[in-house]
Amino acid sequence: MALQFAAMEKDVDINKVVRQHLEMDEFFTGGFTRRDKDKADRREREEKEAMAKATKELERIADEVRQCRKCSLGSIRTNAVPGEGNANVRIMFVGEAPGADEDAQGRPFVGRAGQLLDKVIVAMGLNRSDVFIGNILKCRPPDNRDPRADEIICCLPYLQMQIEAINPEIIVALGAHAAKTLLNTTKSIGELRGQFHKYYAGLGRSPVKLMATYHTAYLLRNYSPENRKRVWEDMKKVLAELGLPVPQGRKK
Ligand code: URA
Repeated sequence: MALQFAAMEKDVDINKVVRQHLEMDEFFTGGFTRRDKDKADRREREEKEAMAKATKELERIADEVRQCRKCSLGSIRTNAVPGEGNANVRIMFVGEAPGADEDAQGRPFVGRAGQLLDKVIVAMGLNRSDVFIGNILKCRPPDNRDPRADEIICCLPYLQMQIEAINPEIIVALGAHAAKTLLNTTKSIGELRGQFHKYYAGLGRSPVKLMATYHTAYLLRNYSPENRKRVWEDMKKVLAELGLPVPQGRKK
């Protein structure tokens, strides 16, 4: 008998037995579900706090942009155009600089190029409110001339801070100026478009995927079914990367 007990004691892992009992007890009294729920609640709380912080940061950047006089464009603008969209979007569209309509309204992409961008966004199965829309320059260059290097140097930190606050999954660079500036390259938009590149938001941060495509203003000026198709192909890649369905019923 004594021998039998000794053999049993040897085989039994007392810690394991206690753990199993505790687990069983917790399971049947709802402890597991409670713990899972607590964890989910905490995660939700943290996500809400992070979003509120990012929203505040976007507002702070917009206020700073509206006060900015770092370059000469600041003194000739009607309105600065900080950009538009929520902090919790997955995609950021980045254009070149405000035009006359944007300068008049203080909102990005509200002229003809903007109306076409709206159509592209809707064709993707999204709404303007699902994305952030911004520009490399926040003020309109006179006569819509190209952004100058000194202006880009003054203005780019605002966009960089916006990207950092939003931390999007994908940036869509519209046109040569946005693509070349964000990728720090001299390659042409023809070479850059249609593939994902990496935008480096800062040390210790994962790079953001960047899709370069033609600017909608370019598309309006140089309309051809081929160019339209190229932009749509690029946007389909964006949707696929985000795991979003490609709305059907569009011409190839
Ligand atoms: N073109 C741009 O690049 N940005 C705008 O906001 C409007 C037109």
